[in-house]
Amino acid sequence: MPDSDSFLEQIERKMKPYEARGSISELPEQGTDADTIVEEMSSYTREEEKGWKQGLVSGAVYHGGDEMTGFYERVYRIYSQTNPLHPDIWPSLTKYEREIVRMCSSIMHGDELTRGSVTSGGTESILLAMKTYRDYFRKKNGIDRPEVVLPVSAHAAFLKACDYFCIRPRFVGLDGDFRADVEKVKEAVNSNTVAIVGSAPSFPHGAVDPIEDLSEVAMDHGIGMHVDACLGGFIMPWARELGYYSGRFDFELPGVTSISMDTHKYGFAPKGTSVVLYREPELFKEQLYATGKWQGGIYFTPTMAGSRPGYPIAAAWAVMRLMGRRGYREASKRILEAGKRIVEGARSVDGIRVLGKPLWVIAFTSDDRNPHAIMDLMGSRGWMLSGLIDPPAFHIALTMRHVSGEVTGKFLEDLAWASVQAKHAGSTAGMAPVYGTAMSLPAEQVDAFLKDIVEWLYT
Ligand SMILES: Cc1ncc(COP(=O)(O)O)c(C=O)c1O
Repeated sequence: MPDSDSFLEQIERKMKPYEARGSISELPEQGTDADTIVEEMSSYTREEEKGWKQGLVSGAVYHGGDEMTGFYERVYRIYSQTNPLHPDIWPSLTKYEREIVRMCSSIMHGDELTRGSVTSGGTESILLAMKTYRDYFRKKNGIDRPEVVLPVSAHAAFLKACDYFCIRPRFVGLDGDFRADVEKVKEAVNSNTVAIVGSAPSFPHGAVDPIEDLSEVAMDHGIGMHVDACLGGFIMPWARELGYYSGRFDFELPGVTSISMDTHKYGFAPKGTSVVLYREPELFKEQLYATGKWQGGIYFTPTMAGSRPGYPIAAAWAVMRLMGRRGYREASKRILEAGKRIVEGARSVDGIRVLGKPLWVIAFTSDDRNPHAIMDLMGSRGWMLSGLIDPPAFHIALTMRHVSGEVTGKFLEDLAWASVQAKHAGSTAGMAPVYGTAMSLPAEQVDAFLKDIVEWLYT
């Protein structure tokens, strides 16, 4: 990996910028007054909000409008003390969870059999779905060495699920448009397969997998099919309605047995919620945990956590009601139009190639210059974009922060500038050399290095 010292110096400036102001190393004897604490915290967030408020960040803050933030604050005031672990104390939270699940089911063509949970985020929804398939097919078909067929573009949360739950991932490649290759999926399915995964759309390239075909493969083999609509759950239904996308991707397809969709992304709820839906109660029941034999009494939880904050659930319910179908449709249209402008504009930028046929999550590479150097140069103009590998590329996930012509115009202008700069000067600083080295080393070495970085970050 890159020389650790210079690399650490580089990321220290980015990730630990406040160290020079001093840090707390033990619990102080004497408390600090509230105003001082809030002023100190505001001084951090004033710095940190500059980038996303100007629309320079990929994904991360999906709405961020002042009125929306003010609405969250009103909900927080009345729900800050709540915990859905106690449905007898706060039955309103269980009602919200049921209704969030019903509302999500209604936009994903679910029916009265559809079940699901509100989780803490996309990763938890995916972890739970994978655990559910493992347990369901162990009972149903006696599969004790479970495998999941994963397009290489599937989110890292699926790898984490495989790691946590001892499931073997069977990776399959993509077609020329960065969608799962259906023939390769068919070849990868075997008697240990418990589920196939498809994304709508995928995180790296914003490509919608051929869910209709994958659904048929799942039906043919009597196995599960999970659609990861964490990114697309609140845009794809309207993209289809408005004619930006024509395929089917949800429970309309008989082979689709579960869907993850994130309220805390394009559902515009504050961070801390996602929804996992199942076609049938039998699957959902495998997700649940219950014990009547614990000394602490009868205990059950629908998801991974025990105690959970009630506020994110209350806020997700409130935001969904605030938005309604019309609100989401209008927001999606603005985001999809911004996507069109970026894709069309980027196609005429010298040295830039758009990957596949994206809608609003758009990946860029270059055939004659280093794409990560282009990303770093965009960084020098304030952009915070996501680096991708295999092929080397970077992407932007467009949100409500990017819908104005001013922001998309600046993006295209900076992209053209960065592409020219990258042609003349290779990159020796920034993330480009890090990505370069990471791509050339064995996976175990890269993973170990990354764990060192994480350990450093939290030390
Ligand atoms: C397609 C997809 N799936 C899953 C996730 C994981 O979601 P979270 O970060 O909320 O855990 C993401 C996050 O960006 C995603 O884009």
